[in-house]
Amino acid sequence: MLSAAIDYARSNYPRFLDELKDLIRIPSVSTLPEHKSDVLAAAQWLGRELTRIGMDHVEVITTPGHPLVYADWLHAPGKPTCLCYGHYDVQPPDPLDEWHSPPFEPTERNGNLYARGAVDDKGQMYMQVKALEALFAANKGKLPINIRVILEGEEEVGGEQIARFIREHSDLLKSDFALVCDTEMFAPELPTLCIGLRGLIYTEIEARGAKSDLHSGMYGGAAPNPFVALAQIIAQLKDGSGRLLIPGFYDAVRRPSDDELRAWQHLPFEEEHFRLTEVGSSRLTGEPGYSVLERTWARPTLDVHGMPGGFTGAGAKTVIPAKAIAKISMRLVPDQTPQQAFAQYKSYVESIRPDGIELDVRLIHSGDPIVVGTDNPYIQAATRALKKVWGKDTVFIRSGGSIPIVGDFERHLKIPSVLMGFGLPDDQIHAPNEKFHIANFYRGIESIIEFMNEVAV
Ligand code: BES
Ligand code: MN
Ligand code: MN
Repeated sequence: MLSAAIDYARSNYPRFLDELKDLIRIPSVSTLPEHKSDVLAAAQWLGRELTRIGMDHVEVITTPGHPLVYADWLHAPGKPTCLCYGHYDVQPPDPLDEWHSPPFEPTERNGNLYARGAVDDKGQMYMQVKALEALFAANKGKLPINIRVILEGEEEVGGEQIARFIREHSDLLKSDFALVCDTEMFAPELPTLCIGLRGLIYTEIEARGAKSDLHSGMYGGAAPNPFVALAQIIAQLKDGSGRLLIPGFYDAVRRPSDDELRAWQHLPFEEEHFRLTEVGSSRLTGEPGYSVLERTWARPTLDVHGMPGGFTGAGAKTVIPAKAIAKISMRLVPDQTPQQAFAQYKSYVESIRPDGIELDVRLIHSGDPIVVGTDNPYIQAATRALKKVWGKDTVFIRSGGSIPIVGDFERHLKIPSVLMGFGLPDDQIHAPNEKFHIANFYRGIESIIEFMNEVAV
């Protein structure tokens, strides 16, 4: 028999999708200062919606950064309390000319909704709101369990404010577990729970040489070049095989258990298909002796994101820039810590500083790596719910991405997280033409409804 909540959701899907489109039209790009008021507008929009569906104590909490949105409904005595988490900020949409439809004008094409934030994370966050609405509507204004909602507007820039809020107000968020809908399914139609995320340190190295920009003909051969210095430093961060050369960096790395590694071998993964359709390069790189899943889920890595400075316009300018910056991040795995990893990196970079160059090695933001235990009733309830909706057994995976707050849920709230995501591997998150498969938006809502009902049992 169809539960009344699922029935309600199904008869309201077109409206749910229209509302999501309205939210997506607000360009809440957290990293760009010119979008600060849009981030606030998205928070207020969500606050109004949480009030409308029947949540109590709805509050848009201002912070020194972007706001948090809080709401609760705590009238199910004896039942567990779920902390629903999501983020309403998005990544910048560039490069704009590669989008087939404008990033903030959500557009339906072949069963997908294309827009920045469609799946990361507005669409996935909104599944939780709509599941709550359906449960309220079907149960005479009541929910099967207690709910707290906490939404943040700066996950994509490290999540500093929510981390601080949790440290300072852990009592206000007291819950039995967290539900995080911000991850992917391993393959279409394959219900998936994510049980591990990599951590991150995002850094900048600023290199300075001469006191001002110089003519490269007059001074080339005598003046130090900060870009060349950064290139020399970067070239010593990894060897040709992809292994990091930072002393001690691998000391804390914990190998996944044999059981976990064996389970990964049974996932439907084809390296050649991944190379061609997802990466699209002539070959894959990375440490020899580790599978692609191991390299992207359970090994630390380092990437260079951009090198601002100097002359990058069209044409040519013969200049020796006075300074140059490299934006470099490292993904971390259990049991590495951002503090120790950054200290190791900083002292190594300083030790290989080229002559005549001054360096500033800065930490921009960081997040802890996590693995969540599977031996709790919430994970079990989630697998039962997913089986009902998708008709298949759940696979447990890790992800190479990071959601900084999940570590804080574990450490400061002492609660496990259920990472139940419905993105697909080809959703192009952070890239042009991000999409959300609309059927997954709907079945995600149904999965969350069933999950809350299972937790209440
Ligand atoms: N939702 C992603 C993380 C993610 C991606 C989890 C794919 C699982 C699969 C999240 O919004 C994200 O992009 N996080 C950033 C965090 C960082 C900026 C602190 C990331 O991983 O780069
Ligand atoms: Mn996300
Ligand atoms: Mn993201």
